[in-house]
Amino acid sequence: SWTMKGFIDEAVETIRKQVGEEGRVICGLSGGVDSSVAALLLHRAIGPRLQCIFVDNGVLRQGERAQVEALFVDRFHVPLKTVDARERFLSKLAGVTDPEQKRKIIGREFIAVFEEASRDVQDAGFLAQGTLYPDVIESVSWKGPSVTIKSHHNVGGLPEQMKLKLVEPLRELFKDEVRALGRELGLPDEMVSRQPFPGPGLAIRVLGEVNEKRLDLVRRADTIVQEEIHKAGLYKEVWQAFAVLLPVQSVGVMGDERTYESTCVLRAVTSVDGMTADWARIPFPILEKISSRITNEVRGINRVVYDISSKPPATIEWE
Ligand code: XMP
Repeated sequence: SWTMKGFIDEAVETIRKQVGEEGRVICGLSGGVDSSVAALLLHRAIGPRLQCIFVDNGVLRQGERAQVEALFVDRFHVPLKTVDARERFLSKLAGVTDPEQKRKIIGREFIAVFEEASRDVQDAGFLAQGTLYPDVIESVSWKGPSVTIKSHHNVGGLPEQMKLKLVEPLRELFKDEVRALGRELGLPDEMVSRQPFPGPGLAIRVLGEVNEKRLDLVRRADTIVQEEIHKAGLYKEVWQAFAVLLPVQSVGVMGDERTYESTCVLRAVTSVDGMTADWARIPFPILEKISSRITNEVRGINRVVYDISSKPPATIEWE
């Protein structure tokens, strides 16, 4: 009968066979479940012949990079190279407001940065991907034809001249199986049950122009959302909960002063697979807490609104 331990043994065997005694494998970590599980499985199979690469693209959430480093380097001793490409991404994004354009830029830069980082890995012959079964059977495209599931956090769009052979140890698994596998491999619960986070990151949660200042606003608001959703015990109840910064200023009042500052949206949805979604009925006291914390703690945001749209016709993200 099928067991997780049996699956691990078999997968390790298959990886060793494919990669051989000397082969080295590169694996892009995104901070998400799939690439994390793929990396740990690879590490189990070939140890230090795995080289992970994590790209800090400047549109990550608070503490994301540190979490990945703490987990993979400190805890699992997985060889990891972090590339600080924040300036590069942000300079390319400067002045860009069109959502598809943002996705294209981030996808393109990711591939370029990843490829450069890969060149430094001596004798790498393989590229590991956390492709799941649903990715294999259908290649979903997000919001227009220009970007597919593969082109950002997954590295399917890597240039052919890299001549790396693909290793896809999760190809036969569904998401819940990947989570179970992650648990079996020792991934902590907070990583295994992570809410999805889009490859283009906060860039598509800052509506309008993406710059350090606006990223800082959305990042701080988002941190408060994450904290309060966790504290309320709702993290696993909702599919995603996050903050979106609107390109809208409105009048407010602080002490005796009139303010004219940004508006933040709280988006929280329930969903089974992300294809359809309903707005989450977050209890009022928690909405209240989130709203008052954001307006009190994040200077530059004076108004918080709650998105009560379902998908369809809205989408989960605002861009
Ligand atoms: P939408 O907004 O289309 O989102 O209802 C459905 C799910 O997909 C995620 N999403 C993305 N993930 N790159 C990604 O990796 C993207 O460009 C992208 N756009 C949306 C979204 O967070 C939700 O989980």
